[in-house]
Amino acid sequence: MGVKKTLKKIWDKFTSSDRILVTGGLGYIGSHTVVELMEAGYDVYVVDNLSNSNIEVLNGIEAITGKRPVFENIDCTDYVAMDKFFTKYEGFKAVIHFAAYKAVGESVSKPLRYYRNNILSLINVLELMPIHQTEGIVFSSSCTVYGQPDKLPVDEKSPIKDALSPYGYTKQVCERIIMDTVHASEDMNAVILRYFNPIGAHPTASIGELPNGVPNNLVPFVCQTVSGVHKKLSVFGNDYNTPDGTCIRDYINVVDLAKAHVKAIERLFDGKMKKPEIYNIGTGKGASVMEVIKTFEAVSGKRVPYEVVGRREGDIERVWANPALANKKLNWQAETSFEETLLSAWRWQEVVNKRTK
Ligand code: UD1
Repeated sequence: MGVKKTLKKIWDKFTSSDRILVTGGLGYIGSHTVVELMEAGYDVYVVDNLSNSNIEVLNGIEAITGKRPVFENIDCTDYVAMDKFFTKYEGFKAVIHFAAYKAVGESVSKPLRYYRNNILSLINVLELMPIHQTEGIVFSSSCTVYGQPDKLPVDEKSPIKDALSPYGYTKQVCERIIMDTVHASEDMNAVILRYFNPIGAHPTASIGELPNGVPNNLVPFVCQTVSGVHKKLSVFGNDYNTPDGTCIRDYINVVDLAKAHVKAIERLFDGKMKKPEIYNIGTGKGASVMEVIKTFEAVSGKRVPYEVVGRREGDIERVWANPALANKKLNWQAETSFEETLLSAWRWQEVVNKRTK
């Protein structure tokens, strides 16, 4: 390599910022992503309004990485506060935007809360990015955009179905807002990740899911039930057209999912992206509610008390991912077994149980 090229490489390394802004970075997926980014050498800055997270998550992040990310308690719907944050720490290479509400049922009873928070937060981030020379965004979307797909496994070309909840609709709208914004801009690009069902916790059990109130999601409910917080788990329907009659989902380990964000950041800056890219982040395998229960019992050695009740409104019968595109283009794979993932969820619950004793 010539002297000029070597100097240019050193110069690029010296000048290129590795600062990443993570909104909602103390939440469940956000905190695991912050850890993976820090371990990959990024300089991580977090804003979070603590509406569904806890300041103590910072201790967990520090316990794993040995460092504390910069953190400020900011609501992304507050444009002025966000602008100040961008100005104070000028030079973000990219934003990973997690900050959003995610409870499907609540979104049906409080739609405007969801539309205001999820959509306005994204608009603020997108408006501020070009003002502060931030070129890339990674957005957390969901497999909910596919509804009940006609063909399984579902790939990224599958049609977007009518959203079954305001929450689901915010994901569809936000994806569209990103597409339109990037299309209209010379300097921005985006990676949209459609998550399947994230479960589990960091293997150190220093961070995990901390649901506010009664959890809606299956695995946190199972963990709490086994801990005696709830008498029994309600299995929502066993008369679906599946081998054991219960619904099937693609449960993805949260650390594997977090790693997909690091790959997405790399992809944004590899010089090969022409337009926004969308990736399914799942394992490619489905598991039924009964399989979750049985596997959880096997790995934890605990019995899960449950009762089959009626179907939950809005539930999809079965969905699992075709993650081939992410495997190929992001060079990302789901690595952790279903057993190990459920055990990590239980290990984390044991930590939470000790803290709340
Ligand atoms: C839902 C959303 C998904 C969102 C995720 C995050 C839809 C279709 N899916 O996933 O987009 O990202 O929440 O919050 O909107 N179950 C029980 N008993 C329980 C809880 C759940 O039997 O107490 C069953 C459900 O019926 C379902 C499975 O477990 O079959 C998984 O449910 P859940 O963990 O709530 O996730 P999704 O509904 O798949």
